[in-house]
Amino acid sequence: MRVIKQISKLQLNLLNQKKIGKKVHLIPTMGALHDGHISLVKSAKAKKAIRIVSIFVNPDQFSPNEDLNKYPSTIKHDLKLLKKERVDIVFLPNKDEIKKYKIKYKIPNLSIENKLCGKTRPHFFPGVKKIVTKLFDIIEPDKSFFGEKDYQQYLVIKELCKKMKRKTVIVKCRTIRDQKGLALSSRNNYLNEKEKKMAQKINQLVKQFLPFFRKNLKVGTGTQMLKKDLYKHGIDSIDYLKIFTEQLTTRKKLNDKCRLFIAVKIGSTRLIDNYKI
Ligand code: PAF
Repeated sequence: MRVIKQISKLQLNLLNQKKIGKKVHLIPTMGALHDGHISLVKSAKAKKAIRIVSIFVNPDQFSPNEDLNKYPSTIKHDLKLLKKERVDIVFLPNKDEIKKYKIKYKIPNLSIENKLCGKTRPHFFPGVKKIVTKLFDIIEPDKSFFGEKDYQQYLVIKELCKKMKRKTVIVKCRTIRDQKGLALSSRNNYLNEKEKKMAQKINQLVKQFLPFFRKNLKVGTGTQMLKKDLYKHGIDSIDYLKIFTEQLTTRKKLNDKCRLFIAVKIGSTRLIDNYKI
């Protein structure tokens, strides 16, 4: 496993790999790796491909009042995990170099960015689009892997690639949960024992309501009851609790493929998740 920090070094290395017919599979991360990331790394494994994991806590996707300064950093542990998985390259971009890196094209606005997380975190998707565009420009991956937990992010990146006519295939990988059903997230590190129990409870409560959402188009009373239950169990605030189709449009028919999307705050920790209906 090679750890590379410089863009030119990385590009030279990739050029050599591509010359001998290797495909490039990229897993972009912000570090603080957990089993969710490792499952992306495993999904990216292929005989004729090299796997490259990028680790960069991207300041552009945090607003000034968010958790950039306390975002967990566990680089030694991350590298150990990636070595164990036999990852080929870990790209640790230098903050200044990546900041200065110029994108050649205008990044398009996408209507799906304005919903759900885009409403309460308007800086988030522009920041994600910017860093992912830079990484894709630098690396030109054949495939890139994203977790289903951040479903809207996956859609935004997929749409971005389509609009920018990129050939990179965006692969969606299933959400990994702990034994109580809590979706793994680096932000779970912020939760104390009591808060973690609360977070695990969300999964149980949401699941109880899924059959109702499955059978009903009008879900107002169901979502109100679920919200009440969530508050009763100590959730501090609910940013959104919405049902949308898998393209984030309004559900019209009972058999439209839909998901329940949820974002909550427990203490100062914001957690998101989504469930197939
Ligand atoms: O999902 C993440 O960890 C980040 O948003 C990403 C895609 C690595 C961009 O910084």
